[in-house]
Amino acid sequence: MVDYKTLGLVNTREMFKRAINGGYAIPAFNFNNMEQLQAIIKASSDLKSPVILQVSKGARNYANATLLRYMAQGAVEYAKELGCKHPEIVLHLDHGDSFETCKSCIDYGFSSVMIDASHLPFEENIALTKKVVEYAHQFDVTVEAELGVLAGVEDEVSAAESHYTKPEEVIEFSQRSGCDSLAISIGTSHGAYKFTPEQCTRDPKTGKLVPPPLAFDVLDAVMEKLPGFPIVLHGSSSVPQEYVDEINSLGGKLPDAIGIPEEQLRKASKSAVCKINIDSDSRLAFTAAVRRVLHDKPGEFDPRKFCGPARDEMEKMYKHKIIDVLGSDNKLADMD
Ligand code: G3H
Ligand code: 13P
Ligand code: ZN
Repeated sequence: MVDYKTLGLVNTREMFKRAINGGYAIPAFNFNNMEQLQAIIKASSDLKSPVILQVSKGARNYANATLLRYMAQGAVEYAKELGCKHPEIVLHLDHGDSFETCKSCIDYGFSSVMIDASHLPFEENIALTKKVVEYAHQFDVTVEAELGVLAGVEDEVSAAESHYTKPEEVIEFSQRSGCDSLAISIGTSHGAYKFTPEQCTRDPKTGKLVPPPLAFDVLDAVMEKLPGFPIVLHGSSSVPQEYVDEINSLGGKLPDAIGIPEEQLRKASKSAVCKINIDSDSRLAFTAAVRRVLHDKPGEFDPRKFCGPARDEMEKMYKHKIIDVLGSDNKLADMD
């Protein structure tokens, strides 16, 4: 059993309270490799932002669970080396699919876990979430649960259709499950294809697709039922068109990739939404940069020469999200 506090990590409780009261959101960035982690820590430390490092089941399989945990421990030391005396870094399991996965992460030193039982019937979702909460709280690990279903397909997360969260269910769910935060479905979705062209309109001037707005009425109704309760948005990449265009112009094929407009996320950040999940934008930044180097220098075969620029591009993107979208810069509890 590894106590996350001995690794220098924190849970989400205090940072969420401050985020709600301060009208900003904490970035939750997924990582699978060293370059992503370096970029996340560099961006959050330079900007004095609390940060949530998210690890999916797929990431644990890809990178090895033990290695990832030591990388997160190393991340705390790296943040200090970058001049952040008191970093606030959460190591969070993203989309935990069973009690056993959540327990394994808690035992490995994670400070926060998500139990994603949103595909189960209401009573089963409550029962499984409660079981995870009872285990996690013994170790002061915080638990995110989910109500409602997001559309989208990734390695470990898939649903053909979304179902908005029903505001009338959130009080009973949060009280009976004991969860610390709640992911809700208001129109975001996972991956780089969040809407079909049929769901969008077209800007008459540019001809570009314009996605439908998020269901802020659902968010408002949830907040009315659960005043001050931490709300989480998954599937919140904005799928920057400059990355999509760069990838497509360099031999890639991402037709009609589209995300959530950043102004909608900016608006959500000012509410009780205190954690915003971003993974796909990092994948796009990485891919665009790698394609650019390999296109311009076909003789290049030193991975540092394309992973380095990819890391720089991700850092730039993370900094933009922190400053311009989530507003979490200069929000460490101890700014020394
Ligand atoms: O929401 C899911 C995250 O983007 C992680 O995706 O399961 O492919 O690692 P993954
Ligand atoms: P995106 O695919 O929009 O980046 O969402 C990531 C996510 O929700 C991770 O849990
Ligand atoms: Zn997600």
